[in-house]
Amino acid sequence: MAGNILVTGGAGYIGSHVCKALARSGFTPVVYDDLSGGYRSNVRWGPLVIGDLMDSTRLDAAFRSYRPSAVVHLAGFIAAGESVQDPAKYYGNNLVGTLALLEVMQARGVKALVFSSSAAVYGDVAEMPIDETAAIQPSNPYGHTKAMTEQFLQDYARNGLRSVSLRYFNAAGADPEGELGELHEPETHLIPLVLEAAAGLRPRIDIYGTDHPTPDGTCIRDYIHVSDLADAHVLAVERLRAGGGEGAEAYNLGNGCGFSVREVIEAAERVTGRRVPLRECGRRPGDPPRLIADPGRAIADLGWRQKHSELETQIAHAWAFLKQRIEGESRAAG
Ligand code: UFG
Repeated sequence: MAGNILVTGGAGYIGSHVCKALARSGFTPVVYDDLSGGYRSNVRWGPLVIGDLMDSTRLDAAFRSYRPSAVVHLAGFIAAGESVQDPAKYYGNNLVGTLALLEVMQARGVKALVFSSSAAVYGDVAEMPIDETAAIQPSNPYGHTKAMTEQFLQDYARNGLRSVSLRYFNAAGADPEGELGELHEPETHLIPLVLEAAAGLRPRIDIYGTDHPTPDGTCIRDYIHVSDLADAHVLAVERLRAGGGEGAEAYNLGNGCGFSVREVIEAAERVTGRRVPLRECGRRPGDPPRLIADPGRAIADLGWRQKHSELETQIAHAWAFLKQRIEGESRAAG
């Protein structure tokens, strides 16, 4: 029996895929989530504890009841653009909540943590692809909260905490078996918004900036399938359980190739067979023009292998999930 793993934010988009992957590897994911951005229906592979990260009493009770051997920490606010408008929301929840979690872990003697970090820790980098030695220079408060949390983990390493920070590039797609998918409220991410525009659920997609220093003037991102991302968490948990993660490790998770906003829209048109109405707008504050990963360290050290690296496969899985959601909603409406 591989044991319990506490997954904060396990009812969310990435967290739910992580839980499914953990369960497939024999672990029992115990979800700790306040359901502010997640859904009860995403919790299918273990118990759900509804609670706020900052509620140390509740968190402590979850540790006492379930005795997890490790924690996967995904709970946090995620919208880089919003963090520029409302930094206090991000510094408050993402940092104060994480400190509360680290304190409870220390009190309960749990010394293994996988942290959901982000490519946003790098900010505006000139050299592509980005490896883990690139300077940590976030360009928005969201990125700062991820970088500061990684600093916490280095500091707690002196008290014996072993950790793996996974710096996600752009999570995309949906569970290939159709059980899970992306549903943020409000949605801010490019691929689901493009697909909703293709489906006629919104009038158009706004392109944020056509004057970036990129070949077609739109931002370039490295899209990675959410199930591949989830697999990396299982490998990280296994690494920690085998005694790894000393001194706080960090890994980039991306494909190593980038697509512009226009290329994503064109790929979505091919996958859906529909035209996506668009409007060219100004830049979104805090958006780096280009983010492409060098995932070599994760491949070498974690043994990570991607199964769905093609952008069109990622979009096809997201499209299948959206169509299923639309059918479900129209059935429910009678
Ligand atoms: N974009 C648009 N129109 C939209 C939405 C997005 O043009 O309506 C553009 C953005 O400007 C950006 C690209 O599409 O250039 C991707 O935007 P997303 O909002 O989908 O993703 P971000 O790159 O801003 O951020 C995501 C995650 C972060 C993570 C980051 C790391 O949300 O948590 O990837 O690369 F830090």
